[in-house]
Amino acid sequence: MRKRVKNNVSWVGHLDWELETFHGDDYSIKNGSSQNAYLIEEGKTVLVDTVWTPHRFDFVENLKKEIDLKKIDFIVANHGECDHSGSLETILAEIPGTPVYCTANCVKSLEGQYGKRGWNFKVVKTGDSVEIGNGKKLVFVEMRMLHWPDSMATYMTGDNILFSNDAFGQHYAVEELFNDKADQSLLKHEAMKYFANILNPFAPILTKKLEEVVGFNLPFDIIAPSHGAIWRDNPLQIVELYGKWAKAYQENQVTVAYDTMWEGTAKVAHEIAAEIHRQSPETVVKVFNIAKADKNEVMTEVFKSKAIAVGSPTVSNSILSSVAGWLEFLKQLKFKNKKAGAFGCYGWSGESVKILQAKLSEAGFATVGESIRPQWKATDADLAQIPALAASLLGV
Ligand code: FEO
Repeated sequence: MRKRVKNNVSWVGHLDWELETFHGDDYSIKNGSSQNAYLIEEGKTVLVDTVWTPHRFDFVENLKKEIDLKKIDFIVANHGECDHSGSLETILAEIPGTPVYCTANCVKSLEGQYGKRGWNFKVVKTGDSVEIGNGKKLVFVEMRMLHWPDSMATYMTGDNILFSNDAFGQHYAVEELFNDKADQSLLKHEAMKYFANILNPFAPILTKKLEEVVGFNLPFDIIAPSHGAIWRDNPLQIVELYGKWAKAYQENQVTVAYDTMWEGTAKVAHEIAAEIHRQSPETVVKVFNIAKADKNEVMTEVFKSKAIAVGSPTVSNSILSSVAGWLEFLKQLKFKNKKAGAFGCYGWSGESVKILQAKLSEAGFATVGESIRPQWKATDADLAQIPALAASLLGV
């Protein structure tokens, strides 16, 4: 069922209340999601993006109920990832030869995924535009590495809508479609989680791109991403948030993340958290067992933090596999301007703290000198070292 976005622009996407994971199982979804596709019916009829492959038949059938598919003059493929391109094959089987406007890299992505099918690609780059009638046009803006090399946004003049694709999106289902109808706390959280877990590695590119887009001095009445709520109430609020988040963002928060074998390292984790609170009651402190907590939610908390403390006991001269995997993900996300400390109990060889410090440095964190490394279990002498570690993490 179509939903009106503005004037002759409708949402024709797929709302997925039951989706639990995304990117395989690499991204957790707690509040549903959507793949947003848009139908523009001006002098020309244009489909902007499609929906994920499993929903392709429903998507095309639903679209047929709204319009005669033959009326579609062209399709815009802002991004080749299959959550947006997954219905192209099905719709183009109905209307073969329909032009598909996309970047040169998107052609590579689509032909790589769906084969060389002789689709009628119209390759565009930043500043290219196409008239759609009624005095309006679509202007294309390459969004290279936001978050794939093929990503693009499309701006519709007249209605001043930016179809931003993944940028400014959230994995969050909003039946009423718009940001002003969404739960504001969830919306902000889901937008931040999406940024921290998907876009943060490209933050320096994003900063330049935001400056470029804002520099166009175009009016933005609506920012319509390809996932989640459409920003119509003060749409620039999400651009401003991205501007802040892209610049080594931090709040007054410290996150303690650990795994434990026999509760020794867990006890140190909680002592560290308590000491941070003792020294700085205004600092938000959060504690997570890496093996049990949702890793995307923990990374969102790390994104907000000015410092983290990471713990693992020594096992087989190394660290627990849960913590090793978590640290690999942490490295990928390229967080900046954050301190880190390490802790972990051991029985015999005791390498975990050194390994943690090395991996935290590799992940771009400024590791503090202090660490907590109890043998067997934390003694009073071990616990007496916690205030110094907490003070270093707090920067006091
Ligand atoms: Fe929503 Fe990069 O796909």
